[in-house]
Amino acid sequence: MWNPSSQRQIWAVGGGKGGVGKSLIASSIAYTIARLGFPVIAIDLDLGGANLHTVLGQQPPQKCLSDFLSNPNISLMDCVVDTPYPNLKMIAGAKDDLNITQLTEEKKYRLMQEIQYISGYFVVLDLGAGINQYTLDFFNLADTGIITVLPEPTSIENAYRFLKAAYYQRLLKNPMLENIHPLIEAAMTPNNIHGIHSPTDLLNEVSFQDKILAADLKKVIKEFRPKLILNQSRSQTDIDVGFSMKSVAKKYFGIDLDYLGYLEYEPNVWQSVRRMRPILAEYPNSRIALHMERICNYLIRQARTGQTLNAVE
Ligand SMILES: Nc1ncnc2c1ncn2[C@@H]1O[C@H](COP(=O)(O)OP(=O)(O)O)[C@@H](O)[C@H]1O
Ligand SMILES: [Mg+2]
Repeated sequence: MWNPSSQRQIWAVGGGKGGVGKSLIASSIAYTIARLGFPVIAIDLDLGGANLHTVLGQQPPQKCLSDFLSNPNISLMDCVVDTPYPNLKMIAGAKDDLNITQLTEEKKYRLMQEIQYISGYFVVLDLGAGINQYTLDFFNLADTGIITVLPEPTSIENAYRFLKAAYYQRLLKNPMLENIHPLIEAAMTPNNIHGIHSPTDLLNEVSFQDKILAADLKKVIKEFRPKLILNQSRSQTDIDVGFSMKSVAKKYFGIDLDYLGYLEYEPNVWQSVRRMRPILAEYPNSRIALHMERICNYLIRQARTGQTLNAVE
């Protein structure tokens, strides 16, 4: 259970593919919870294409993540800058595009530690594209991991890949499951000798080999409650993609994917970006603003009560 005045909540927005709306959604979530009265820090973790500041309507600030990453004497909180919006602060992404492989384990660890030390704030992480160790680690660090998907086959495929990779990553990081590492690693390898092709296959194999470990595995799986937002919907068929993904995730992965809802395709988005204004500041009465508020209220309620009910049944 979370106490908003003394603790922090970390929400991460990922999705495996570039251009699916991660930054728009991360910035809109940050903007909405700030407007609802909670102090928020939005952090741009897209090392290769930092643009959260732009979606929040800001010029690149003097201080940014590069300062933290390049100087061990600078703390993460030193890189926080204000925005014109009450309660909303941000840490802009790295100035010069950083190749993810340039981020050493040590720097990544330091960044993860300092994000976890933040207190009294909502922390919203805008993750980069791609399914790499860096992005998966930050997705799994979050109290709430949100996957963004477009109603297009390529985006859906990537979202499943991201979900699966985040899931295996989570299992590998769990000390309780050390004894089944070889099986998890096999599951991550196509055409492995165990014939494990999905998280469900993995659970079946572990149950076959060791009932006690299978119970531990089930417990870890149950705690993994990723969220899904379908972006740029134009029809009921698009909206239904979220429901199908929810049932596929359950059936083939054994994962409870919580479908938070959808955001419509909003033709005015590009205009607000050009005017350097967050979409929700520019169009506070738009359907995106309405849906965002509903989603944020649901997530805040969930964080407060510790309940994991489904957003949409
Ligand atoms: N719901 C939406 N309606 C219209 N345009 C959108 C919507 N969501 C995102 N976009 C546009 O799609 C592009 C990619 O969005 P962005 O948030 O930068 O994606 P990502 O961070 O995943 O790369 C941007 O030009 C953005 O303005
Ligand atoms: Mg982005």
